[in-house]
Amino acid sequence: MPRTPVDIGATFDSIAEAFDATRARPWSFVTDWLEGLGPLEGPMVDVGCGNGRHLAVAGQRGMRGIGIDLSVRLLAIARQRVGPDTDQRSGDARDLPIATDAAGAVLAVAVIHHIQEAGGRKDAVSEIRRVLAPGGEAIVSVWALDDPDVVARARARPMEGGDGADMLVPWRAPGGPTVDRYLRVISPGELADILVNRGLEVARSWDAGANHVALVHAP
Ligand SMILES: C[S@@+](CC[C@H](N)C(=O)[O-])C[C@H]1O[C@@H](n2cnc3c(N)ncnc32)[C@H](O)[C@@H]1O
Repeated sequence: MPRTPVDIGATFDSIAEAFDATRARPWSFVTDWLEGLGPLEGPMVDVGCGNGRHLAVAGQRGMRGIGIDLSVRLLAIARQRVGPDTDQRSGDARDLPIATDAAGAVLAVAVIHHIQEAGGRKDAVSEIRRVLAPGGEAIVSVWALDDPDVVARARARPMEGGDGADMLVPWRAPGGPTVDRYLRVISPGELADILVNRGLEVARSWDAGANHVALVHAP
């Protein structure tokens, strides 16, 4: 276990504008899911919403969205993208600023792999379970860094002091400094274990590009 926790909010603050420039388009597995959702009992909560690209799609489909993120700069970009009246909250996936059973659906794309402590990743999944209304569904995805080809393409390297699954992935902004992002290697089996052990039912799991994706239901 690395001794010094990485401040991932500060990491994303430092690359927010350049990151936004490369993440304009929503991922199709998310848009497909959003399109298939029926009327929701509550808002669609986007945990680690980043620049709001998926909140924007939800809004276009008439859903009320709430975005949560640690990066204040990405939240500001999300507000610009989705509109000033949208509900975007500074907050942590491990302690969501959302009432119990209040969410009709939850999206957690490429976020729990940024949480360094195993207990924190479990807490984040427990929070998804807590805020989801009974019968609600969620999408949880992680970067497939258990695949050596993905590791090579990302130029990921093991973090000093980590256990081999703690990785640093460089972000090279054009003309700017290189910034390392903390990423945890999470296999599809480990992802399913965390989800099931925190009380969620895995309805389907698959790979979408370089991502492991799970569709889960709250019982
Ligand atoms: C790779 S980006 C993905 C953003 C967005 N989900 C998307 O698909 O475009 C990861 C996001 O998760 C946020 N994040 C990381 N750890 C978080 C945590 N513990 N709580 C809330 N947000 C977090 C980062 O600030 C960043 O915006």
